[in-house]
Amino acid sequence: MTPAACKRIPISSARLSRLALWAALVAAVAFLAAPVRLVAQDCLACHGDASMTNSAGHSIAVDGKKFEQSIHGALGCNTCHADVKGYPHPEKVAPVQCEKCHADQANQLKGSVHTDSKDHPCTSCHGSAHEITPKTDPTSAVYPLNVPKTCGNCHANNGMAQKHGLDSVYPNYIDSIHGFALSKEGLLVAANCQSCHGSHGILSRKDPQSPTHKANIPVTCGKCHAKINANYQMGVHGQAIAKGDLNAPVCSDCHTAHAILQPTESAFRMQSTPICGNCHKDKFSTYRDTFHSQLGSLGGYVETARCWDCHEAHDVRPTADPASPVNPANLVVTCGRCHNGANLSFVQYQPHANANDRKLSPGLYFVRLFMNLLLISVLTFFIIHTILWIIRSRYNQVKAGKSGNGGNHA
Ligand code: HEC
Ligand code: HEC
Ligand code: HEC
Ligand code: HEC
Ligand code: HEC
Ligand code: HEC
Ligand code: HEC
Ligand code: HEC
Ligand code: HEC
Ligand code: HEC
Ligand code: HEC
Repeated sequence: MTPAACKRIPISSARLSRLALWAALVAAVAFLAAPVRLVAQDCLACHGDASMTNSAGHSIAVDGKKFEQSIHGALGCNTCHADVKGYPHPEKVAPVQCEKCHADQANQLKGSVHTDSKDHPCTSCHGSAHEITPKTDPTSAVYPLNVPKTCGNCHANNGMAQKHGLDSVYPNYIDSIHGFALSKEGLLVAANCQSCHGSHGILSRKDPQSPTHKANIPVTCGKCHAKINANYQMGVHGQAIAKGDLNAPVCSDCHTAHAILQPTESAFRMQSTPICGNCHKDKFSTYRDTFHSQLGSLGGYVETARCWDCHEAHDVRPTADPASPVNPANLVVTCGRCHNGANLSFVQYQPHANANDRKLSPGLYFVRLFMNLLLISVLTFFIIHTILWIIRSRYNQVKAGKSGNGGNHA
């Protein structure tokens, strides 16, 4: 092995001897001050050879240029490889302890879902130890635009996380509004995995401290969607969650966590009626019987009234609340958004008309009762009529057979 060649500048012999003196002095100090700080070039004399392998045949080459450009480039090799103190160094070199210099990150990682240091070494997210760049550098594995791919190494189809029984998250995310904004538009402020989960202290959603625990989700999304969160908090659902009633919906119940769609897209508008309806089953079934829903379910026609067109999506309130858009005092305005010239008599129409509920819809109730009675009496009449007709025709057949004219069924 030849040491890496370095550029030499011609200098006078007087200066050379002065330099030699200094060099000897520095060397002496370095020798006395243990541990010896070896410069990268010393190690790269051997490890800079791209084809270098260890006795087991694995590559032990280090790209000196990339290392120099990395954030640790100014550190000597053996600030990390602390047990290499000279040459030849021992064949077995101890694993690097990143936590010696980054104790905060290491401690957070220990308390997280990625606690197992064999499965989740720092390099599992930060990439090659010799090529780490600052998180603000576009080449960093944890630069906002690169985070989804980094986490997706394990959280995708057949990834390591799926073998632990977790959903495959990456494919859903990357097709979502956030994933699209990030990967196609390069929008740095769009939510990446880290925005919602954190980085080193990631907790399971079952942990009440987790930003993805149900009760904390509005705050997590609200970091960016502040106005919508404020509206949501004023509404009946937000108030219920704030009181600890986890039956009410949070952002991800209606939008999902990873497959978030643009809510004006028909794909969202078509699927979301069942979303409100999952919890409000009675209102959903009555809505389904009425004109607005029948329209909506006709071959992709989506410009009809969905639950939130009448109720609001975030600031949802009980009918009795004067601020509710479905409070009787506000119906002319609410319905008028779509029905030009809607007046007091128009808004008498009941969007949740329930023919089985005599108190809520008395007119409908009695019409239904009358129609049912009519149906039953008509059916009864026809059944009796048919039975009598069969008896009569059988009687005629038997009579005709007795008089010798039977057997001809042409
Ligand atoms: C004279 C050549 C030479 C120099 C100089 C040298 N090494 Fe090595 N190093 C080797 C060889 C050969 C091996 C492979 C040992 C084996 O067969 O497993 C090795 C192995 C290693 C390993 C372990 C790789 C593994 O298999 O896990 C590390 C880490 C390492 N060297 C770091 C350094 C550092 C840091 C320096 C500078 C302070 C340095 N080396 C300087 C030749 C050298
Ligand atoms: C920021 C800390 C850090 C610095 C600085 C560093 N290394 Fe490493 N190095 C690591 C880590 C981490 C590994 C992975 C194995 C381990 O955990 O010990 C590693 C692995 C190695 C290996 C084994 C082969 C491989 O690539 O896995 C060699 C050889 C090596 N380093 C040489 C060097 C040389 C030469 C330098 C200086 C040019 C250097 N290292 C600087 C952290 C560092
Ligand atoms: C599960 C993936 C993951 C693992 C494992 C991981 N990191 Fe990080 N790390 C990140 C992400 C993501 C960021 C960027 C955070 C941000 O943008 O605020 C980051 C940022 C950092 C930073 C910059 C300062 C900061 O906290 O934002 C340091 C230093 C760091 N990590 C060190 C480490 C060390 C040391 C380890 C191992 C003990 C480690 N990381 C393990 C994902 C990880
Ligand atoms: C000898 C001390 C030391 C060791 C060991 C060390 N680092 Fe660093 N690291 C630093 C210093 C110094 C910086 C630059 C100052 C800063 O931003 O914290 C840095 C910066 C970083 C950054 C970028 C921080 C940012 O602002 O984005 C990451 C990521 C990082 N280190 C990860 C690691 C990982 C992973 C390991 C183990 C493989 C490791 N470090 C080992 C000293 C160390
Ligand atoms: C907009 C916020 C947000 C973003 C971005 C996000 N998540 Fe999530 N994630 C959540 C929430 C909230 C949950 C809680 C469970 C739920 O409601 O589905 C969750 C749950 C999870 C789970 C647990 C799934 C399970 O099966 O229990 C994993 C794993 C996960 N996320 C990984 C990721 C990864 C990897 C990324 C990036 C590709 C990511 N998340 C991006 C908010 C987010
Ligand atoms: C090296 C593979 C790997 C990487 C990289 C990785 N994860 Fe994980 N992650 C796992 C595994 C495996 C588990 C399951 C841990 C367990 O249950 O023991 C997990 C668990 C999780 C969970 C907890 C799910 C739950 O509710 O139990 C979340 C959330 C999560 N990871 C998010 C992330 C995010 C965000 C990133 C990127 C910053 C990331 N992961 C990077 C492998 C990885
Ligand atoms: C880090 C900031 C951030 C976080 C956290 C965040 N978002 Fe977003 N979100 C954005 C940005 C930026 C856009 C705009 C993307 C675009 O228009 O291309 C967006 C778009 C959306 C959209 C599409 C509608 C629109 O206004 O463009 C919905 C719906 C949405 N986010 C819901 C959520 C939900 C639910 C959560 C929590 C689970 C969440 N977001 C967390 C930044 C964030
Ligand atoms: C009960 C279901 C529900 C909950 C809970 C909910 N949303 Fe929405 N969200 C919707 C619907 C429905 C729309 C479509 C509204 C429209 O088209 O007028 C929407 C629209 C949006 C939009 C697009 C901008 C807009 O106003 O049209 C964003 C961004 C958004 N929601 C984020 C959030 C965030 C953040 C939370 C939690 C704080 C949240 N949502 C809670 C149902 C919900
Ligand atoms: C996860 C279940 C869930 C989903 C999804 C849901 N809600 Fe609710 N909703 C509730 C609960 C629980 C309450 C009662 C809150 C309270 O009063 O404490 C409620 C209350 C209401 C109220 C007030 C009337 C009352 O009975 O107190 C209206 C109106 C309402 N929701 C409409 C909607 C609309 C519109 C959607 C869809 C955009 C929706 N809800 C989605 C659970 C849900
Ligand atoms: C065309 C407008 C309109 C649509 C669409 C609509 N609603 Fe209503 N909703 C109303 C009106 C008006 C009332 C008050 C009169 C009543 O109770 O029938 C109401 C009442 C309610 C109530 C009871 C509120 C209370 O304070 O008791 C709930 C819950 C509700 N709707 C949920 C839904 C759900 C879920 C959907 C979608 C499946 C939906 N609504 C669709 C207009 C609408
Ligand atoms: C988001 C828009 C939208 C809102 C809000 C809305 N509707 Fe409709 N409605 C429609 C559409 C579209 C039709 C079908 C086209 C038509 O006939 O005008 C329709 C049809 C109707 C019909 C049957 C046809 C007709 O015009 O006589 C009635 C009755 C009706 N709506 C009542 C209401 C009432 C009452 C409200 C308020 C509680 C309301 N609508 C709110 C969009 C809306």
